[in-house]
Amino acid sequence: MTGSRTSSYKLSKAGTAVQNLNRLTIGENPRINEKAIVGSEPLRSVSDLSVTIGNNLIALAGAIIYRGVKIGNDAALGHYAIVREENIIGDSFRLWSNSIVDYGCVIGNRVKIHSGCYVAQYTVIEDDVFLAPGVIIGNDPHPGCEFSTECIKKSGVTIRQGAQIGINCTILPGVTIGKKALIGAGSVVTEDVPAEKIVVGNPAKILKSIYEAKCTNGLTEKPYLRVKR
Ligand SMILES: CC(C)(COP(=O)(O)OP(=O)(O)OC[C@H]1O[C@@H](n2cnc3c(N)ncnc32)[C@H](O)[C@@H]1OP(=O)(O)O)[C@@H](O)C(=O)NCCC(=O)NCCS
Repeated sequence: MTGSRTSSYKLSKAGTAVQNLNRLTIGENPRINEKAIVGSEPLRSVSDLSVTIGNNLIALAGAIIYRGVKIGNDAALGHYAIVREENIIGDSFRLWSNSIVDYGCVIGNRVKIHSGCYVAQYTVIEDDVFLAPGVIIGNDPHPGCEFSTECIKKSGVTIRQGAQIGINCTILPGVTIGKKALIGAGSVVTEDVPAEKIVVGNPAKILKSIYEAKCTNGLTEKPYLRVKR
């Protein structure tokens, strides 16, 4: 977030639909497509409507960043990637096309969220996490319950540092996925996952340690041997 400054010149020169330029602080060298929006007005009432974004933001056509958001340096948003209000996001963030980060999340550095993902409100994602295409994260154990609005605040998912979530996984409310865990493709995660384990299936169960996985293409003997323990 260092080197940030308030800038309207570069943004308007880039032709972007940047709304409410007061309380917008953005770093050097933004590349914002004319059909992207930075500073979209939330429907919810939000106490801090400021937007603070670091250097080198890339926002492709259709990307939308709401007000009340902090994002670090070197973020890139694909087409129709949406960051809702009250999100705090670190450096080198990637959010590819048709993915949504709903409001109230905290996301670390170097987090990559691929296409077609949904990250529910109050999710915490630590550094170096990867979400493959089609990952869906929930937060409401009993949708439609009269206490849902309060309940989701207590049921956000936590994904610890370096965890990798495979294609098309569903992560149920309240679950914590441990450090460097690997969630196999198509899994439904219903309970906490221990650190450094591979889980698969519906409901997801432990298959093995990540250190036991073998490379399928002969590039290395074991893919996670060099992961720092
Ligand atoms: C989970 C995973 C890492 C396991 O790979 P692996 O260590 O090479 O394990 P194997 O292929 O030897 O499979 C071991 C067993 O688990 C089963 N299995 C593997 N992946 C599974 C999955 N996603 N769901 C259910 N079962 C699975 C296999 O069928 C096999 O069962 P068996 O012993 O009864 O025959 C891998 O299958 C996977 O899902 N990788 C994620 C891919 C992905 O989403 N990439 C994202 C970017 S595209």
